[in-house]
Amino acid sequence: MRYAHIIGWGKYLPQRVMTNDDLARMVDTSDGWIRERTGIRTRHIAADHETTASMSIAAARAALDRAGVSPSELDLIIVATATPDHIFPATACLVQDALGAAHAGAFDLSAACSGFVYALSMAADRIRAGNANTALVIGAETLSRIINWNDRSTCVLFGDGAGAVVLQGSDQPGGVLSTLLRADGSGSDLLIVPAGGCKLPLTLEVLTRQLHTLHMNGREVYRFASRVLDRAAREVMHKAGWTSDQVDLFVPHQANLRIIESAARALNIPMEKVFCNIEHYGNTSAASIPIALAEAAESGRLRVRDRVIIVGFGAGLTWAAAAIEWSEPQAVSRSRWVLRRMSYGLAGVRSRARRLLRRLEDRLFGSGDPPPTTLIPKNGAAQGERHSTPSVSEPSQAEAQAR
Ligand SMILES: CC(C)(COP(=O)(O)OP(=O)(O)OC[C@H]1O[C@@H](n2cnc3c(N)ncnc32)[C@H](O)[C@@H]1OP(=O)(O)O)[C@@H](O)C(=O)NCCC(=O)NCCS
Repeated sequence: MRYAHIIGWGKYLPQRVMTNDDLARMVDTSDGWIRERTGIRTRHIAADHETTASMSIAAARAALDRAGVSPSELDLIIVATATPDHIFPATACLVQDALGAAHAGAFDLSAACSGFVYALSMAADRIRAGNANTALVIGAETLSRIINWNDRSTCVLFGDGAGAVVLQGSDQPGGVLSTLLRADGSGSDLLIVPAGGCKLPLTLEVLTRQLHTLHMNGREVYRFASRVLDRAAREVMHKAGWTSDQVDLFVPHQANLRIIESAARALNIPMEKVFCNIEHYGNTSAASIPIALAEAAESGRLRVRDRVIIVGFGAGLTWAAAAIEWSEPQAVSRSRWVLRRMSYGLAGVRSRARRLLRRLEDRLFGSGDPPPTTLIPKNGAAQGERHSTPSVSEPSQAEAQAR
């Protein structure tokens, strides 16, 4: 029988820290209100050159280093995010390219704040079924780009960041032992970015009405979270054959300290066994659980064979949980670390070479098809005119920097 073990972890937080007092200078709020109602003191905000892909790449490299795994060993990369760099291609493909993970499939997973637990479950299932051996699972968000900074009921809650884990197959029992995935789309309007998809494409009116930003019914989401958090934890505990007093660490999605405390009470788990870092980062959506796992492992709060419960909940509505037996850290050799560092440099060269080769092939052999067209008018061109599709664009500044 195959098991899926977490053998590496990493995180990335942007340098810029925004305090509650900073927010109080922007909207009608106060440090006291935010701390009392949410437990948040600060959050990290991405710099202009940072994106979900660049933060994912940084967290992924840290996780690969910790695992002693080189990108060429990866079979699968999943990025859980609600704030991808583009509608397509998937952010996971940008990560695959920057890492030089030549043998990996890559896709994004959209389940909002539950996304990381959904992705972990997908990757673990693939490993347990024998279809993959090594997988990289990332939760990453640049929520600061979809927040309405004039809406005090939402802008105080969220932050940016990324966390990643490396999963590997083994015959040794342990790792991800049970999972639960659930959804209730009847609550889809409670936490939503209404525009920017095909239902409401971006127009000047949409932008003026801020429909491209996050909208939330805070009270209803609070009620939903309080309902599902302890039930989901109980269900995965039961499936893993554990009782709540056997759990060593409870790592819930970091959305609101009051929600976390009431779930811990309902589960009869003392707060010493609950991991909380919401104070520093706010709600980083899909990134919150992998960031918390990385911090718990780094600070020694997670030890070999510890029993961990993780639970995510959020837009969709979605919720998801997993019971994990924490695995033995890998012995990482210095020489493999150096080789891996060199491989990141080579990944950039490989990527540029592949782009060049594609252009050369196009010049030498042509596509044989009529020139592709686009409906997007270029400067000065009349609407409806046929236009040649621009050639493959150069990597963005952030992608280039990440390489
Ligand atoms: C958003 C949340 C913190 C609001 O806390 P709350 O105790 O429910 O507060 P309410 O919505 O009842 O609002 C209470 C008052 O505070 C005001 N208020 C809202 N945001 C405020 C802010 N940032 N600063 C000061 N006052 C604020 C409201 O306008 C309201 O005023 P009113 O009574 O005059 O109408 C809370 O509902 C919550 O955490 N919900 C879950 C959100 C979440 O986790 N989302 C992500 C899920 S992944």
